[in-house]
Amino acid sequence: MDVVLVGLPGSGKSAVGRRIAQRHHATFIDIDELVERQVGKLVPAIFAEEGEAGFRRHEHEAVLSLGPADTEPEVRRVIATGGGTVIDPRNRWLLYRGRFPVWLDGSPEILASRLARSVNVRPLVDGNDPAGALRQLAADRHRFYAPGIQISGTANVDAIMRALETRLGDGPSPDATMLREDTAIGRVEIGCGIAAAAVDSALRRGEARRAILLAEPLTWTVAGAGIAASLEAYGWDVERILLPRGEKAKRMRVIEETCRALARLRVDRRETLVAIGGGALTDAAGFVAATYLRGVPIVHVPTTLVGQIDAALGGKTAVDIPEGKNLVGAFHQPVAFIADVALLTTLPARQRRAALGEVVKMGALGDDRLLELVEADGVAFADGSNSPIESGAIAEMVERCAWAKVEVVIADERESGLRMTLNLGHTIGHGIEAAAGYRAILHGEAVAYGLRGAFAIALAMGLTTPKHSERINSLLDRLGLAVKPPAVTRDAVWEHIATDKKHAHGSLNWVLPTETDVVIRSDVPGEAVETGLAAALHLAPAVSTQARPAPETQSGAHVR
Ligand SMILES: NC(=O)c1ccc[n+]([C@@H]2O[C@H](COP(=O)([O-])OP(=O)(O)OC[C@H]3O[C@@H](n4cnc5c(N)ncnc54)[C@H](O)[C@@H]3O)[C@@H](O)[C@H]2O)c1
Repeated sequence: MDVVLVGLPGSGKSAVGRRIAQRHHATFIDIDELVERQVGKLVPAIFAEEGEAGFRRHEHEAVLSLGPADTEPEVRRVIATGGGTVIDPRNRWLLYRGRFPVWLDGSPEILASRLARSVNVRPLVDGNDPAGALRQLAADRHRFYAPGIQISGTANVDAIMRALETRLGDGPSPDATMLREDTAIGRVEIGCGIAAAAVDSALRRGEARRAILLAEPLTWTVAGAGIAASLEAYGWDVERILLPRGEKAKRMRVIEETCRALARLRVDRRETLVAIGGGALTDAAGFVAATYLRGVPIVHVPTTLVGQIDAALGGKTAVDIPEGKNLVGAFHQPVAFIADVALLTTLPARQRRAALGEVVKMGALGDDRLLELVEADGVAFADGSNSPIESGAIAEMVERCAWAKVEVVIADERESGLRMTLNLGHTIGHGIEAAAGYRAILHGEAVAYGLRGAFAIALAMGLTTPKHSERINSLLDRLGLAVKPPAVTRDAVWEHIATDKKHAHGSLNWVLPTETDVVIRSDVPGEAVETGLAAALHLAPAVSTQARPAPETQSGAHVR
């Protein structure tokens, strides 16, 4: 077994690591020393010459060079990471799965005083206010360290050793959490093979007396039944309530039936519900949780990529009525959001491909690494291959999208400003979805059309560069998204956009890409809108006879 020590600079990873290795006659590996050996320079010199980015590249190479995790039951290698090694999701995927991560935790003040006595140079902590620098690092990195077994790094080494020895019996597991944080909008947990254990822990935190699982027939088969079996093995009594599959769950009648099922089970206000399914299921179950007994806690376990990167996060719940989709709903934050990428292996190709439309949108908001990931692994995943799940690429995509959404939602829960930026590609996309009657075109597919439109508008207005636009359009081409004209007319799409404009008191806020992020603009000229529609719908650019939005004077705030 490999023991992996993580934590802030000064938490004692190297000293403790050496002692554990000695005691177990194991090999001790210090990642910083490994980097220095492989590069032939000391860490401060690498930082000085290549900057932090250069150092991180070498650090990833060093982690890769560790090879596969040791599978023997006894401790054979002890690996002390650098304080920032596990910022990189790829390093966490390599270090946390099949290894035994231990988080040496400690207060920044104590760590700072310890570092003051150390001869080692710490490039990110040296300066006037080491305790302040450490506090900031602790806030930024807490979610990456938290998956490890937490041991106080300020305890003396013997105490750490004793605490550790009692836990080593658990052994390493291929199922691993990659990120865990208690945020203002609930606990966020992302990993692989973690669903049942994370639900168990959420129920314990909520002092639940049983597990009440809400799913739909298909997600019950592919995910719910397994989670239920594990929960029963943990000792929970499990109740199951099935809603209809897909969008059919989002109907008032279903909400009433579900609430009646809860009432028959005598579910009280303190009981936590667990929703297991795609965005439609979590939207409907979330609405039930928002309204049953005026609100009960809910845990979301999304089983689609759309659910893991978007729908199950942020607290928007919704049902459809004949007059429109998502017209009735409430804000109700889940107490926990558990994204387990292992649940995505059964997802059909069309669902995967469509969800990548949303991932490209998140990349276009300014996450270059996310675009690189989709460029490298998107096509294989969209075609149904699970190798991007096994390699960790999908976990990284989920983490980048989900965490970006968490930050935006915390800053602007009720969508009065920043959260609007998530609507890149949605103005035309919604128009297309609505014109298709919300049936023939999936949301992510519509967003892909909308993205092409938004980039064409931004180009016409000189907001972005042809290079950036070309990158997004060719990525969508390769993914097979929005490559054919959708089966809707320009006028029908226009009519829905005009209705949205009316609802927005006559002034549409367009989210438009710049070269590096997005701006919100309400002064988009009619000609630019026509250019966008033509690009989205694959029409020859034509001047329309329909009314165009008059240019408005208000210019947009630059938001990111
Ligand atoms: N609340 C929000 O902020 C928000 C954001 C985006 C989308 N949404 C909503 O989400 C819904 C779309 O979500 P979706 O794309 O997840 O679709 P979905 O929930 O309809 O699921 C799509 C299909 O995939 C199946 N499925 C689910 N998990 C599976 C798995 N692991 N393996 C195999 N099949 C599986 C489902 O049975 C269904 O047939 C829409 O109703 C949309 O309005 C909400």
